[in-house]
Amino acid sequence: MIKFLNLNSEKPYTHFKTLYKKALENGQKGIEAISVSSYDKASSEVEARYVNLKYIANNEWIFFSNYHSPKANQFESHSQVSILIYWASINTQIRMKAKIYKTSIEFSNEHFQSRTKEKNALAISSNQSQVIGSFEEVAKNFQETLEYMTPETVRPDFWGGYSFVPYYFEFWQGHENRLNKRHVFEQQDKAWEEKLLQP
Ligand SMILES: Cc1cc2nc3c(=O)[nH]c(=O)nc-3n(C[C@H](O)[C@H](O)[C@H](O)COP(=O)(O)O)c2cc1C
Repeated sequence: MIKFLNLNSEKPYTHFKTLYKKALENGQKGIEAISVSSYDKASSEVEARYVNLKYIANNEWIFFSNYHSPKANQFESHSQVSILIYWASINTQIRMKAKIYKTSIEFSNEHFQSRTKEKNALAISSNQSQVIGSFEEVAKNFQETLEYMTPETVRPDFWGGYSFVPYYFEFWQGHENRLNKRHVFEQQDKAWEEKLLQP
C-alpha cells in the first residue's frame, strides 16, 4: 500500500489516485511495486529494478534503499530516472520521468523507526548487491544483527529514502478493441501540458 500525505491537487496526481483506488478495488496485488530505471555513466548501461513505493508526499514519490547500492551510485551521477508501473487488474500502465534525490535525514529516521525489527536488521546486515559466498552467510549476518539490535538501534547512514518528482506522466489504458488511450501530462514551466498520443 502507498501512503498519500497531503497529495498534490494537480491533475496527474488526482488521476493517479483515482486509478490507484480502482486498481485496489479490483484486487491489484503488489500495488506499490514500481520499476525504476537509471543510467550507469561508467558502463553506459541502463538498469531497471523494482522497488516498493511507500509514500507520495505532496509531489514527492518516496521509496527506501541502500545508499551504497548500484542504483544509489547511478542516481548520484545521473539524477534522471524512468519509472514504470503496470496494474493488470485495470490494464493500466503508468510511465513517469523524474529527477531523484535522497530524502531528508529526518524523514528516513522516522520511516526507519516505523519498521519492524526484522526489516531493519536486514537493511543493516546487507551490503546490497555485493557478491557473497553463500546464502547461509546472508542468513548468519541477518541473525547476528537481529540479536544485537535493541529498540534504541538507530538508522545506519547507508540506508534511507529516495524521493523523485515527476515532470512527465503517461497514463496508458488498454481496451479490448485496441483503441488504447494514452494520456500525457508534461510539465512546462509550472503548468501541466496535457496531450493525447496515438496508440
Ligand atoms: C516487488 C519488489 C520490491 C522491491 N522493493 C525494494 C525496495 O523498496 N528497496 C530496495 O532497495 N530494493 C527493493 N527490491 C529489490 C530490488 O529490485 C533490487 O534487487 C535491489 O534494490 C538491488 O538493486 P541495485 O543492485 O540496482 O541497486 C524489490 C524487489 C521487488 C521484486
